[in-house]
Amino acid sequence: MPRFPQSFLDELADRVDIVDVISDYVTLKGSGRSGFVGLCPFHREKTPSFSVSADKQLYYCFGCHESGNVFGFIMKMENVDFCQSVRILAERAGMALPEGDGEKGIGKEKKQRLLQANRLAAHYYHDMLYTPEGAEALAYLRGRGLSDGHIRRFGLGYAPNDYDALTQCLKQKGCDAGELMEVGLSVMSDRGLRDFFRNRIMFPIINTYGDVIAFGGRVMDKSEPKYLNTGDTPVFNKRKNLYGINIIKKNGSKRAILCEGYMDVIALNINGFDYAVASLGTALTRDQVKLLHRYCPEIYISYDGDRAGVSATHKAIEITRQEKIKAKVIALKDGKDPDEYMRDYGPQAYSDAMNSAQWGADYLINQELAKQADSDEDKARAAYNASQLASKYSFDTIELEMYLRRISSATGYSLEALYRNIGKSQTQEAVSLTQEVVLPQQIKKESTGDSAQLVQRMLLRLLCEYPSLCEIAAKEQLEQYFEPGFRRELLLMLTEAGREKQRITQQELSMIYVEDAEKSKEIGAIFFEEMQFVEPRTYFRQCILTLKKDRLLRKREADKQRLDRYVRQELYLDEEQLRQLVKHMGELDAQIKKIRLDAQ
Ligand code: GTP
Ligand code: MN
Repeated sequence: MPRFPQSFLDELADRVDIVDVISDYVTLKGSGRSGFVGLCPFHREKTPSFSVSADKQLYYCFGCHESGNVFGFIMKMENVDFCQSVRILAERAGMALPEGDGEKGIGKEKKQRLLQANRLAAHYYHDMLYTPEGAEALAYLRGRGLSDGHIRRFGLGYAPNDYDALTQCLKQKGCDAGELMEVGLSVMSDRGLRDFFRNRIMFPIINTYGDVIAFGGRVMDKSEPKYLNTGDTPVFNKRKNLYGINIIKKNGSKRAILCEGYMDVIALNINGFDYAVASLGTALTRDQVKLLHRYCPEIYISYDGDRAGVSATHKAIEITRQEKIKAKVIALKDGKDPDEYMRDYGPQAYSDAMNSAQWGADYLINQELAKQADSDEDKARAAYNASQLASKYSFDTIELEMYLRRISSATGYSLEALYRNIGKSQTQEAVSLTQEVVLPQQIKKESTGDSAQLVQRMLLRLLCEYPSLCEIAAKEQLEQYFEPGFRRELLLMLTEAGREKQRITQQELSMIYVEDAEKSKEIGAIFFEEMQFVEPRTYFRQCILTLKKDRLLRKREADKQRLDRYVRQELYLDEEQLRQLVKHMGELDAQIKKIRLDAQ
């Protein structure tokens, strides 16, 4: 694939919406959940089987099986290569293309040198705090309640009000001027190289390996911009890192508070909540959620209580949902951020707010219900919106029912009406739930070739959505049931990632194979269908049993044919061979029977 910087592609993918883009070519109609349908532009049809999922950012035609992400769609539709599809979409999104032909991937040694420059800079800034020049900065930090211990823990520092003090110092220590620019510490001016950060409190940004990868710098007065941050560099992508993640990793904390600002992280730390992180001056991204969730299963969103913070909270709940992660929301009153909240009301008050944190879905639904005034119209709107939210944010049908019941009692609308509103009936829901769990048995009834394929797809889907299943996959040596080919390739890739405690999402897979139409089709077939797995583990095991049984049945069939040929005198077997054959069939039967019992 031609190389654009990954950060650029990620941002582009975030900014363009597949439904928007496809709507320019195909008339789409909404159909339940977040799915849209229209007439397939790639084959002739009279009834729509071309579907687009906003959630998955994927299209799939149930007729011709064409599938792909937004880049793939443009490639096929406009008959262009990947590079050109990126250009077309970037223009549409109003994003400038990165210069040159994109990221060349820097060597290991170069990376070490860049990180070393950052490390030296962090030491330099930190030491400056304890010189006469840094006195004001030190007083500022003390004024905000930081002890020397806190300052050291976060490696805080001061960038002096000097033209090129840091640049000179680092050059003397052997750093290369070009590399100082690459890493964002120095910038070229008409008088030569100068320091990028001047007269600011410095917050080093440190990754999970303990490398200093970037800096944030805050002014000490009211001037603008309040914060200056390192831009993206070869060692820093602000969309994939979190401020404070190094401390979480060191503590081994299983819970995390996600907030907006550097100072919130630090204030929380001072008050004993030493498991806070902040995104780096951008809206929260899926990569950041993934990173955090790798360390902390329990996530609290604690944004500012002002209007912007509430709106960012909504977005953050959506981002966590996309990653299939449930997060809680700490709502702070009076528009305050966590730092101000603790200062004004004390850490106990924050702790109380944390104890009464609500699940993201509850938070959104309660907000919607709170809007209903006395008029019938408001009530109806609240019931409508709240049940849509319930449908979107419930992770399973039980949860959905719980929310709908609550909405029903709050608004007076019947449960049936609410189910109808979200395009589902209670009984339908119950049926589809059981269908999912027994699907492997049903699949068995279809022809063997196809059934193995369906079950393999299901296994891949589960493995992608629940990477911890890789343990079962490894134990069962799942690859023995996958013939060489693309599905096997995916299986190896997903189990490998799971072993490394990494997660490869469907969106990432769509991107990796965007240039291969056949593989994209297969990805569509695996992932497109909307599904909720009630008990993924059980279901996964059942799928494996189905594959095992299929294989035994095929062996049994081969034996049976041999026996038939012997009976028809087309095949000669001596007594011993015959005895062996019958014994073998008996063993196979026993194994098949055992699997049938296990599967129940
Ligand atoms: P204090 O005002 O010192 O309490 O800082 P804060 O951390 O509470 O900052 P604030 O709530 O104003 O902003 C939240 C985060 O947004 C900051 O930590 C920065 O990462 C980012 N941010 C704020 N202002 C700017 C700015 O002017 N430029 C950029 N690039 N980022 C900013
Ligand atoms: Mn603040």
